[in-house]
Amino acid sequence: MKLLITGGAGFIGSAVVRRAIAQGNEVVNLDCLTYAACLENIASVADHPAYAFEQVDICDAAEVARVFASHRPDAVMHLAAESHVDRSIDGPGDFIRTNVMGTYVLLEAAREYWQAQGRPEGFRFHHISTDEVYGSLGDHGKFTEDTPYDPRSPYSASKASSDHLVRAWHETYGLPVVLSNCSNNYGPYHFPEKLIPVVILNALAGKEIPVYGAGANVRDWLYVEDHAEALLLVLQQGALGRSYNIGGENEARNIDLVRMICALLDEMRPDAAPHDRLITYVTDRPGHDLRYAIDPQRISTELGWRPSVTLEEGLRLTVEWYLANEDWWRPLQARAGVGERLGTKA
Ligand SMILES: NC(=O)c1ccc[n+]([C@@H]2O[C@H](COP(=O)([O-])OP(=O)(O)OC[C@H]3O[C@@H](n4cnc5c(N)ncnc54)[C@H](O)[C@@H]3O)[C@@H](O)[C@H]2O)c1
Repeated sequence: MKLLITGGAGFIGSAVVRRAIAQGNEVVNLDCLTYAACLENIASVADHPAYAFEQVDICDAAEVARVFASHRPDAVMHLAAESHVDRSIDGPGDFIRTNVMGTYVLLEAAREYWQAQGRPEGFRFHHISTDEVYGSLGDHGKFTEDTPYDPRSPYSASKASSDHLVRAWHETYGLPVVLSNCSNNYGPYHFPEKLIPVVILNALAGKEIPVYGAGANVRDWLYVEDHAEALLLVLQQGALGRSYNIGGENEARNIDLVRMICALLDEMRPDAAPHDRLITYVTDRPGHDLRYAIDPQRISTELGWRPSVTLEEGLRLTVEWYLANEDWWRPLQARAGVGERLGTKA
């Protein structure tokens, strides 16, 4: 199968690219290389004969159409997005442009290409989205695929908009789509502005570990390699027009997550223990959703998918990876905004 993967130089997209090639697929990686992109993430496949890279902006209709016409993919996996909630608070415009307009451009290009090919039955447009479209949970309950949308940040509102567009292109034009909404990912190649890498890298540097508010916000953590596997399964076996929630069955309060990472570092770097002395509570994010939790019943019963690691196992793999890959993360810390407190301009 030839896959057109957008955002394949990002955190999750690169895991999908690596796994798709390992499974024997051909991959065209379409990415415009924003501040969040790292070609090093896909260095292991860059010279593979089944891999091609196109530095293209998904908002550029002519270039996107050229990529479809020249590569003739069997399916699209759409991951390109602006993805950092704090940046969406300070500057929502980029999120509306890429996540909403870019998805529209990609849908139109996919539709024209699919129609010109005679509407092949096997074609798929897989839209990758987030559980943040469902808003915030209280202490109980979980998000199912039927939970009403209630996005509360510019990021989640832009992703919810893109989900609506994808469903509309299916209902109106018959475009063969599948959707997935996943919980917070973590693992190797996670860009160093996100919570888990910030905790690891600040702790290693002996710097304060910032925890928003009281650290009571709960996330359902999903190991990125498990997510990549689930995404390829949804693409290959998901029912047309259907969406799948993907979660790690690993809920944790932020403060407990941070303490787990500190305990791992105490074990691996005992000279600097205890690392939790660096925990510092900072002003909360405006509109910070309290709790996300995924009910993964549909993907587990219909597609037989389950996460392969617990949070404890995945965090151990992640901390070990950051300790072994300073060459990857050190240069990224110099990129604009990394290491700064963002998301305060509400
Ligand atoms: N990271 C998470 O925990 C998480 C959770 C749920 C859903 N998601 C979704 O998964 C997808 C991937 O997330 P991620 O964490 O890998 O993101 P990321 O920020 O690490 O990577 C995004 C990639 O998209 C590319 N990109 C951005 N704008 C583009 C444009 N206009 N044209 C072409 N390429 C562009 C960037 O260069 C980058 O390589 C996103 O759609 C995101 O909404 C992420």
